[in-house]
Amino acid sequence: MITLDPINELISPEQKIITTLSDADLVWLQEKTHKYMTLMSYYKCAMMEIETKLKVLNEEFTLNLDRNPISSIKTRLKSPVSIKNKLENLGHKVSVDAIEQNLNDVAGIRVVCSFVEDVYSIAKALLKQDDIKLITAKDYIQNPKENGYRSLHLIVEIPIYLSHHKRLMKVEIQLRTIAMDFWASLEHQLNYKKNHVLTDQMKEELLQCAQISAQLDAKMDDLRKELC
Ligand code: GTP
Ligand code: MG
Repeated sequence: MITLDPINELISPEQKIITTLSDADLVWLQEKTHKYMTLMSYYKCAMMEIETKLKVLNEEFTLNLDRNPISSIKTRLKSPVSIKNKLENLGHKVSVDAIEQNLNDVAGIRVVCSFVEDVYSIAKALLKQDDIKLITAKDYIQNPKENGYRSLHLIVEIPIYLSHHKRLMKVEIQLRTIAMDFWASLEHQLNYKKNHVLTDQMKEELLQCAQISAQLDAKMDDLRKELC
């Protein structure tokens, strides 16, 4: 028979660690993770800066166009496990300094737009801002990946202003339409970086779905041009 310890069932794993470690161990843990937590908080600040810029642009475009060019904005911080795996896969030593030096996608923002034209208008307006520096752009809309994936990827550098200094942080911005997001989200669940073996026919069908989503975008864009 399983007996449940009512107190242990109620406390989270973090609380369990805190209750089992000694004060000295906790101080050690806090010191060891401080540099990492600080860097992660800088990435969060950089994402907040970009998210605000995107919201401001959406507000202005909405007034001028009488419709929302941005359908949704999502931010995510790469998990510690993904950071470690990526550094190791790239052949780097795992350290806090190595994160900033070698990874461009610790802070990620996904911007889902209504129409293809909105993707480019928002990207152009953002990159025109004088505190944003474009590091790299990959246009998988003009040049889709072999599997059909489409999106505009920008790596940018943006300053965050702290109490005593300014710091430049890199952020990955993925801009895509609702149709591109629909395909990418489902394909991600089925395939991307998973160990599933897709048959050639399945890959061909996924590619066809991506092409249908591109046709959908083109048709919606034509309608928009006729109506607006
Ligand atoms: P990562 O190591 O994944 O960061 O790839 P990369 O450094 O070669 O960069 P790239 O710009 O090609 O892709 C970065 C991100 O775009 C990925 O982490 C995914 O979020 C997304 N992405 C790229 N290719 C695909 C794809 O084929 N399918 C899906 N669903 N997402 C993709
Ligand atoms: Mg990535």
